[in-house]
This record gives sequence, C-alpha cells and structure tokens, in this order.
Amino acid sequence: MKTWWKESVIYQIYPKSFYDSNGDGIGDLKGIILKLDYLKELGIDIIWLSPVYASPQVDNGYDISDYQAISKEYGTMEDFDCLLKEAHQRGIKVVMDLVVNHTSNQHPWFIESRKSKDNPYRDYYIWKEGKNHQAPNNWESVFSGSSWQYDKQTDMYYLHLYSDKQPDLNWENEDVRNDIYKMMRWWLDKGIDGFRMDVINKLSKVQTFQDVFPQTKKYMRPSKYVSNGPRIHEFLKEMNQKALSHYDVMTVGEITSCTIEQAKQYTGENEHELSMLFQFEHTDVDAGPYGKWTPVPLDLVKLKKILTKWQYGLQEEGWNSLFWDNHDQPRVLSRFGNLDYMQDSAKMLATTLHFLKGTPYIYQGEEIGMTNYPFTSLDEVRDVEVFNAYQDLVKDKKALTHEQMMKGICASSRDNARTPMQWNNENNAGFTTGNPWINVNPNYKTINVHQQLLDPNSIFHYYQKLIQLRHQMPIIVYGTYELLEENHPDLYIYTRTYQDEKLLVINNFSSHEYDYELKEFRYSQLLISNDQCDKIHDILHIKPYGCYALLQKM
Ligand code: GLC
Ligand code: CA
Repeated sequence: MKTWWKESVIYQIYPKSFYDSNGDGIGDLKGIILKLDYLKELGIDIIWLSPVYASPQVDNGYDISDYQAISKEYGTMEDFDCLLKEAHQRGIKVVMDLVVNHTSNQHPWFIESRKSKDNPYRDYYIWKEGKNHQAPNNWESVFSGSSWQYDKQTDMYYLHLYSDKQPDLNWENEDVRNDIYKMMRWWLDKGIDGFRMDVINKLSKVQTFQDVFPQTKKYMRPSKYVSNGPRIHEFLKEMNQKALSHYDVMTVGEITSCTIEQAKQYTGENEHELSMLFQFEHTDVDAGPYGKWTPVPLDLVKLKKILTKWQYGLQEEGWNSLFWDNHDQPRVLSRFGNLDYMQDSAKMLATTLHFLKGTPYIYQGEEIGMTNYPFTSLDEVRDVEVFNAYQDLVKDKKALTHEQMMKGICASSRDNARTPMQWNNENNAGFTTGNPWINVNPNYKTINVHQQLLDPNSIFHYYQKLIQLRHQMPIIVYGTYELLEENHPDLYIYTRTYQDEKLLVINNFSSHEYDYELKEFRYSQLLISNDQCDKIHDILHIKPYGCYALLQKM
C-alpha cells in the first residue's frame, strides 16, 4: 500500500547536541525551532526527536522520570508545543521517542515500587529473590555486568537490561500497559505524528527467568529470553488497537535482533503492529572478538549480503528503515567511508542507502559529512556504556589494554555521534556560546553547515538532491530491488524496477577504478552522481568512491 511514511525522509535530532539557544552548553527545544528553516531547506519530511522527557540523564534521556514533562535543560512543554506548531507550519512532521521497556529509577512508579513488597506499584517492575545471596540468574546487562540490582530496602533484586538506573517495566502487568497507552494517547492528542520505539522487541520476557546455558562466562546475554518474547506480538497489537490505530501516525520499532519472518510479523500490513523497523545486522557487520570495541575492516560482500537479505525479505510484506548512523553508532564516513576521499565517499554512502527500498533516515550532521571524534582520554567521554565496558573489559577481565580500548572508543563509541552539530567555523562550531557538554570535533573549521550551504557541490546539496529525487520518483520508493555482482569485493551494484522504468545504482566502496559495461543501460539518463560524466557510453568508468544512479525507460 502507498503511504506517506514510505515516501518520506526522516531526520533524527539528538537534542542535547543539536543547537543550544541559551548558552548553557546543552542543546534545547528553542534551539531546534531556530533551525527548522535549515531542515526545511534540506527538504526532509519528518523529524525524529531523541527523548526530551524529564530525566536524570544517566543515559541521555533514555531514562525517563516523567513521560509527560520536558526535561528542564531542554525547555518547557510550551516550547515543545511551539516546536510542534512551527514544524507543522513548515510541513514537517514530528515523531517522538517512546522508551517504555524501562523507566528511570527516579520515576515515581519505581520510587513507590521499591518501598515495600505490598506497594501498589511493586508489580510495575520485575523483582526477584536472590539465589544464595547472588543475582537471581546469570543475565548480562547490555551495559556490562549483571542485569540485576540488589535493593536492600526489601532484600530483593530488580531487573535492568540496561543501566542499573533503568529498571525494566513489567509488561505482564495490565496496569502498566494501560498507563503507557494512556500516556501515548496524551501525546498523540497533542498532534505528534508517531513514535520511534526504543528496544521495543524486549517488552515481553520469558517468565521462567532461567540461567542462560551453556554458561561460558560469568554473565550471559539473555537475548533468547528477552528478545521477541512470547507475548510481544500480543502487546504490540494491543498497543496499536488501544492507542495508535486511532490516529494517522507512523511507528518505527528498534528491534535489536530478529529474523525476516519475525520482521514481517512486526511490520506486515495486516498485522497492525508497527509501520517499519530498525534492524542492526548491517551495523554489526564489522564487530570483532570483543564486539564493537575491536572492530574488523569492512567486508563489502558480507554487507551486501545482509542488506540484500533485508531488501528481499521485506520486498512484498513489511517495510525497512534505511540508516547508517544514529545516536548509538559511530559516524559512517569514518567507518565505511574513506577520509582521504571525504566528499566522494560521503556521497557514495548516501547514494547506496537512499536508493534502497525503505524509508531513509539521516542522523544530524551526516548530511555535512561529520566524522568520528579523536578521543585521546576517558575525560572526553560522556557515555555510560563506555565507562561500564571499560570497567568490564580493561579493569575486571583484563581482556583489552587501555590503548586497545581507546582505539575501540575512537572507532565505535556512541559519543562519536553525540559531539555537537557543526554549524559554522566560529567558537564551538556555533553550537553554543557557553561550554559544550561534550567536546566539539576539532574539524569543525572545515566541516560545517555554513560552508556547505555556500558550496553547490557540497555533501549537503547532494543529500538535498537525493531527497528531491525521492519525492519526485515513485520508483525510488516502490521499485523492486535486485542485487547484481554479489561477489564483487568493491562495488555495490543494484537495480530497482517499477512499471516501465529501471534504475541502476553503482557504488564504489574502494579507491580502485573500474570499467563497467552498461549493456541495457547504455542509453540511460544519469540521475545523480559524485562524478562528472557528460555522456553515458557503453562502458562506465567508475572512479574511486564513485557513485552513479542511472535511469532507463523500457
Ligand atoms: C536504545 C537507545 C539507546 C539506549 C538504549 C536504552 O538502544 O537507542 O541510546 O541507551 O536503548 O534505552
Ligand atoms: Ca541550552
């Protein structure tokens, strides 16, 4: 079915790092309002706002203490209402982050819950007795260590799949569910346009809470007991029926892992659960022995296999989200691009992604080619995930040396994505007049919005054109995907087919040059490229990191 959220391009804003309007060093809602015209010029259709709710900010707002209030450093509910109105006036929709697998430990529900075993809110969270003065089971937190925290008030443990300040809600409890749906309707009634749903496939846990076997280390990831659990589809259908279905909105679920069959269940049109999903197989492609902390070089054949599996898998049923970057990923230009070919590789990566079938996401700064940050010390780090992983891998397990871990942090830490947006070449990249909460990347003098707006050949203007093309051409949205040259180590080539048109998309992930025989595409029109080719001949000469999208009428 054709719908607006398939035809849109979504821009993710990480409010803390976008634009600071009052000089306290922290981005805020007023700052976003001031930059709406910039986003309008880029041409995006929808903003996804990372959490702006009241929060002690242990995990930058993914730990919520009040779902119906704005965090004081971001502004007020009035500012939010103004942002929504101003965005809508410009034809931009606004999607909120929905973080309901867990709350902050400062949420009133949790403050009540921990007070006593018979507190009315006790059952809002997952409490278990210890086993011989140890955690109830061997489950490992995503942020390292046990996923159980002992609470001496009642001599029991609570579950936290993320930090110990993010207790997991008990979705088995109907009151929890109804409170969440009520809160969602409150936001939907305000007129927001949908939700990005944080780790939404983890709501339903296998209720036996048994150890993960075989146990090869002290704590084990409990995915098989907490991901895509027994009641997950029931909960999402209920959420849809009780909240979402009454509004014309979109949803995107962050699904930490799942099969194609499960993805179809989450996003199939007749399932009435989610509009689309984020999967992470392609961003895990370069994980090494210690996961993202010891990355291995990109294997393009493997990357193509993964993306193609998802393209083919959801071709007829379900819908993909297309992304390289978000607030949890390092910068794609540093990761899969080549800084010696900055402009070209940034444009090539954008082309690869934006011509796939699905809804593309741009993460703030990606459209100007922002890069990873050169961390030299832990003082520059802000992310709780890094501190926990450092403690675990360097201090406790001695699996990595300090130097190895710093290398991992430079390559993969989430803070790479969280450095301030680079607006211009003035102080702090124009992000703030105060002290930024996290360092600005020193390359802001050459990589910034101001400079790119002046340059017609900039990465910004390339993204702008990609977005325009998508708005003009149904083939980019609805065309059927087919992979060519699957075993080519450097080139990612695919076609899209729709009615009497065919697109050929060629992307060079290397500094090698290639000649490619165009065959049926030899009379085609060049839609967009980072290369200058006046005329298409029988043979296309592909330059280093070159990208070419060719249109052929059949
Ligand atoms: C998601 C968010 C991430 C957060 C985690 C816990 O993965 O994207 O930023 O730390 O959930 O809420
Ligand atoms: Ca501020």
